[in-house]
Amino acid sequence: TPDPILAEAFARRIVPVVVINDDSNALPLADALIAGDLPVAEVTLRTPAALASIAAMSTRADLLVGAGTVLNVAQATAAMDAGARFLVSPGLSRDVVAAARERGVPVIPGAVTPTEIMAALDMGLGLLKFFPAGIYGGVAALKALGSVFGGVSFVPTGGVSPGNLAEFLAVPSVAAVGGSWMVPASAVDAGDFDTITQLCATAVAQAAN
Ligand code: 3PG
Repeated sequence: TPDPILAEAFARRIVPVVVINDDSNALPLADALIAGDLPVAEVTLRTPAALASIAAMSTRADLLVGAGTVLNVAQATAAMDAGARFLVSPGLSRDVVAAARERGVPVIPGAVTPTEIMAALDMGLGLLKFFPAGIYGGVAALKALGSVFGGVSFVPTGGVSPGNLAEFLAVPSVAAVGGSWMVPASAVDAGDFDTITQLCATAVAQAAN
């Protein structure tokens, strides 16, 4: 991918999808991700603590923080105001894409059907989230879509796990995968950051193979 922010986000080909319920956990989580050699986070806008967490994490120069579960322009704007360096959306919204582009922030919208992918191509997008990947056909679907949409790269998310990570990463059209398995919300809530560091390190090593 030519965008420098996304190149950094995808350096290990894994994007941790995080849910933070208490923004006091944001900086320790940032430290845990950095210690696990996975210095990137897609903070989902699913909790009241998400924006404050993005703001806190964006102060860390050695971590790249983005926002996930961006459903509309208001959320996109709030996330960018908080310091999100990239946006991820489960679906394709022309308005969200425009809001991100206005500020030069890379956006990865979701698309899973040929019609959605063609709509994304019409918007000039070549990098798409594929969510929920397991439900929408997983590796087999990505291979079939890849043979039709040669110029499109995907970030499958939703159902990616240590058990199928290698299979997803082996698909030529897959730029990176997203997933929450290395950042369990229960571990974040419990302040069990050593576990998160360990899970990240394991995932990074697995993706490098
Ligand atoms: C997402 O927002 O991309 C998903 O919630 C991540 O899916 P997972 O929990 O199955 O990894």
